[in-house]
Amino acid sequence: MRVRASVVASQHALHEEYAGVVPEIASRAHVEAIIPVIREALAQAGIGLGMLDAIAVGHRPGLIGSLLVGVAAAKSLAWSLGKPLIGVDHVEAHLYSGMLVEEGTQGEAADRDGVPLFPALGLVVSGGHTAMYHIDAWDAITRIGSTIDDALGEAYDKAATIMGISYPGGPNLDRLAQQPGASDAAFDLPISRLSPTSLDFSFSGLKTAVLYTVRGVPGERANRGPLDMTAQNARDLAASFQKAASRAITLKLDRAIEASHASPYRTLLAGGGVTLNSRLRTELAGLAAARGLKLRLPSPPYCMDNAAMIAGLAFEHICAGRADTLALQAMPTASR
Ligand code: KG4
Ligand code: ZN
Repeated sequence: MRVRASVVASQHALHEEYAGVVPEIASRAHVEAIIPVIREALAQAGIGLGMLDAIAVGHRPGLIGSLLVGVAAAKSLAWSLGKPLIGVDHVEAHLYSGMLVEEGTQGEAADRDGVPLFPALGLVVSGGHTAMYHIDAWDAITRIGSTIDDALGEAYDKAATIMGISYPGGPNLDRLAQQPGASDAAFDLPISRLSPTSLDFSFSGLKTAVLYTVRGVPGERANRGPLDMTAQNARDLAASFQKAASRAITLKLDRAIEASHASPYRTLLAGGGVTLNSRLRTELAGLAAARGLKLRLPSPPYCMDNAAMIAGLAFEHICAGRADTLALQAMPTASR
């Protein structure tokens, strides 16, 4: 799927001083940004509104105030232009983000190789979601596992805070772990397995292990004191955390692949902000190669939230004959 234009209005700066998203501020910022963003995307693509074939919108899951702004804008456009309206699940769209390529780039060849994608195993890892999916078609997606506590991005951000790494935590921890001389074997951190067959994830144990490593464990037999956070210890702990976090993901993907032997997966589709992580990208590539799966990882601009993935998945829905009416609702919950 070729991308003609991709415009993202980031709200990070607005929420940074509150150390989290303030829903009311988020909705107001959506109202202010939506028209300029649509104008800029059309300008980038060099087209007018009349040349659009359909209007797609992410209508679930998320903060209801922000979703309402997008859904109202999409309905107005669809009604006034007389074009079909298609509502898309934001998390499912992350699974599609690896299908997006920019015109004239290498990815275009993979896009046209004609090899069937499905059945595919899907992974979404972001600040708010961590889940695995069985995908038989773009409109036949089933969640087969998800985190029972923190999302992976949240675990990265919390571990970074515990280690005293500055905002944004996840990307900065990743950079620290990649510094020369960083050893991922320096600290032995837990990889959650849950039960022997579970496809769910858990990151709270890993987060607690980082906390105890950094602050010490008073009263324990070993009575370890706080870690002397030298530059070497910091990069070693970052690298050890990345290893444990990435292995916790690939362990469950591997279990799902193992369990699919009757109808083996052809593709591994991944998306979400944490697919920017260098270690996770390497581990996913290794797993896909070892298991003979085609890997569709989003290129960096499409790892984080973006509208191109919404439009891309909507295109698949249109091809399958699906469209919504003006009764489309914004929904805070996921569809599966
Ligand atoms: O997809 P996204 O914007 O989140 C939600 O919509 O929830 O991704 C943001 C998350 C944050 O938790 C951020 O720390 C994490 O993705 N992230 C990373 C990296 N880049 C972004 N985590 C680890 N390594 C990275 N390089
Ligand atoms: Zn997202």
